[in-house]
Amino acid sequence: MKITILNGSPRLQGNTSKMTAAFRESAEAAGHTVTEFNVCRMNIKGCLACEYCHGKGGGACIQKDDMQQIYSELQDTDMLVLASPIYYHGISGQLKCAIDRFYSALYPKAPESLRYVAMFLASGDKDQYTGARFSFDGDFLGYLGLEDKGFYTCAGSVTDEQLDEIRAMAQSL
Ligand SMILES: Cc1cc2nc3c(=O)[nH]c(=O)nc-3n(C[C@H](O)[C@H](O)[C@H](O)COP(=O)(O)O)c2cc1C
Repeated sequence: MKITILNGSPRLQGNTSKMTAAFRESAEAAGHTVTEFNVCRMNIKGCLACEYCHGKGGGACIQKDDMQQIYSELQDTDMLVLASPIYYHGISGQLKCAIDRFYSALYPKAPESLRYVAMFLASGDKDQYTGARFSFDGDFLGYLGLEDKGFYTCAGSVTDEQLDEIRAMAQSL
């Protein structure tokens, strides 16, 4: 299957990136095609709420920035992995901008191929995930009706055991 990772951490060797790397290696070894976007290295603006996409745009966003690369991937991806550090009790601003821009591509309905979602979060302290969980449950499981492939967290440095849990999920896809 085709899997798209949106990595919202600016730290390419950080905990979030270790989680996405563990996932990617195991998913690829299992025969899946994985594309990872580091949204912090991309030029992705916030949604303008102009509604062009739901009118004249016919599903296309009026803003022509690096989000176009993600839109084209979303057309036929089967699974979305949303990965982020926790910043001020939520996902990073860079990932939030990309998710808000789903408005043109995934609202009111996601592409047919998109069926699964997982979330990886890295925080400094424990129990910091309520905000991200609310969005994951409400927007991705509830509203879009995607199948839950797991909500993986680490507080402090990610452990080998935590990475193994992610690897096991990727192998089971
Ligand atoms: C701007 C900023 C805000 C943060 N806010 C929180 C927070 O609210 N709660 C928390 O537990 N950790 C917070 N942290 C710590 C990061 O979540 C933590 O260092 C995490 O491991 C970073 O992920 P990374 O290694 O993938 O960069 C914050 C860090 C930064 C830079």
